[in-house]
Amino acid sequence: MNVGTKVSGTSRFLRQYRGLLLAVGTLAAVFGLAGSAGAQTLPQNASDIHLGVGSCAGSTCHGAVTPWRNSTVLQNEYVTWQTKDTHAKAYATLLNDASKRIAKNLGLPNAHEAKICLDCHANNVSSNLRSKTFQLSDGVSCEACHGGAVRWLGIHISGVANHAQNVAAGMYPTEDPLARAKLCMSCHMGTADKFVTHKIMGAGHPRMPFELDTFTATQPAHYRIDDDYRARKKVADPVTTWAIGQAVAVQTTLDGLTDPKRNRQGIFPELVFFDCHACHHPMSNVRWEARASTGLGPGVPRLADANMIMLRIIVSQLEPALGQRMLEQSRALHASTDQGTEAVAAAARNLRETVTPLIARLAQQRFDAPQMNALLRGVLREGVNREYVDYAAAEQATMALSAILTAMRRAGHIDEAKFKAYNEVLDRAYKAVEKDEEFRPANFVAALNALDQVASRN
Ligand code: HEC
Ligand code: HEC
Ligand code: HEC
Ligand code: HEC
Repeated sequence: MNVGTKVSGTSRFLRQYRGLLLAVGTLAAVFGLAGSAGAQTLPQNASDIHLGVGSCAGSTCHGAVTPWRNSTVLQNEYVTWQTKDTHAKAYATLLNDASKRIAKNLGLPNAHEAKICLDCHANNVSSNLRSKTFQLSDGVSCEACHGGAVRWLGIHISGVANHAQNVAAGMYPTEDPLARAKLCMSCHMGTADKFVTHKIMGAGHPRMPFELDTFTATQPAHYRIDDDYRARKKVADPVTTWAIGQAVAVQTTLDGLTDPKRNRQGIFPELVFFDCHACHHPMSNVRWEARASTGLGPGVPRLADANMIMLRIIVSQLEPALGQRMLEQSRALHASTDQGTEAVAAAARNLRETVTPLIARLAQQRFDAPQMNALLRGVLREGVNREYVDYAAAEQATMALSAILTAMRRAGHIDEAKFKAYNEVLDRAYKAVEKDEEFRPANFVAALNALDQVASRN
């Protein structure tokens, strides 16, 4: 089976991210930890009325053509979103030929009126929460991320409210990495209520790789992290953002595997939880090899475990015994896949018990220079040990290395010369994962070996 081109969907954002890293050197992605903000109800589930993009886009509000000089925020957020951000086009996507084909293959009358599509491609809140000015065609609009504005718009325009007061009035704390992880992943990985199944992928939907720090950086920034931003909002480094993103991604996967509505399709397991490229690659490209962390033999589909590997590396630095427990429980999860969905759900529950408390812990975690270095070496070591022979794992490892190196540079743990030396080699890793159809594990491992050598030099 060779459906490489359809399963892909990576190179675009990887290339953009690479461009950013090289051009600016720093990513827009540094954000704050606002206490317990991760517990905030998602905009799509809260009971606040949504007013529509029009109410944000006034020329003296967020609709200016160029940034305002004497304002704390840029005020041209609308223009950035409208012209550069694919979220603004998410609804229009449902009208294009690809969506028409998906809808036809699924037996839907059309995509732009199907709840399953609108729930992620628009701000599809229930009709009683839509004001007169609300338009579904605005796609993934301001309020889809920042929350229904009915309670905070007034205090926010009058300028009397600070960020905490806005949040108390229903604004979603997008600066908090845990809250942000939950928000972005509700669409980029799915929830119990909205979910891209293998059936939908089979109908033509692209694969949905996600990593919080990278995707935060590739979403065209409509904000600027400067001194006044830091005064208003706490700021987290890319490693923290990456780590929290991995923990929430694992939790999201385990939620799916333990949900009887989502973990099977008829008598089959739901294939979307499995590594796409385990099944989808040309037969001329034979590449199976044993991986210590799965314990599986050849010829069996593997659960997609890239996020689990990353999280295990993070946890192992903080508490080796816990890392070991994650390793054993992930192996048990892999082993359960030939014993039916009940066995998978049971094994997933065990792992989830280990992972859940980690999320709160990582939200409080600050990584110092030795810890960041240990994470870097950890990601490289697993690669040199050939843990990333699966494409999705190599893709996650590449994004992880970028996040860690950027954080190290920004915190002053490595100087410009060292960062440059890393970057030159990191390019080879990016090249190796640029196209999933052309992925060769050996090239990727060679790049990681070279990075490991840079790390070993003083
Ligand atoms: C309401 C659902 C929803 C939410 C919430 C959401 N996204 Fe998206 N995102 C989408 C959809 C749908 C697309 C694809 C749009 C298209 O091309 O039609 C997308 C596309 C993207 C892309 C472009 C991907 C590419 O391949 O070019 C990035 C980057 C992105 N989102 C980042 C984020 C981040 C970061 C967050 C959280 C702050 C987030 N998204 C929250 C639905 C969402
Ligand atoms: C769980 C959320 C979710 C659901 C449900 C969903 N999508 Fe998507 N869709 C996304 C995200 C996120 C992306 C962007 C993936 C990326 O590029 O990283 C996307 C991308 C797409 C793309 C490719 C867009 C591009 O610019 O290349 C098409 C086409 C699409 N979706 C159509 C549909 C249709 C039709 C449905 C309903 C059958 C649907 N989607 C349901 C989240 C979803
Ligand atoms: C896909 C999610 C998403 C969408 C859609 C989105 N934003 Fe944002 N927005 C963010 C994130 C993430 C941040 C950065 C974290 C923060 O400061 O809260 C942000 C930050 C901001 C800020 C804060 C800047 C500062 O200096 O404090 C403003 C203002 C803003 N967005 C306005 C808008 C407007 C207006 C729209 C619609 C035209 C919009 N956003 C659409 C995710 C989104
Ligand atoms: C256990 C093996 C297996 C896994 C894992 C798997 N698939 Fe599939 N996939 C199949 C089979 C079998 C078909 C049906 C083949 C056919 O119709 O020719 C299929 C069909 C498809 C198709 C339609 C192919 C076509 O020719 O139109 C797409 C696209 C697809 N899968 C994407 C994915 C994605 C994305 C993932 C990972 C999230 C994934 N698959 C995981 C086995 C798998």
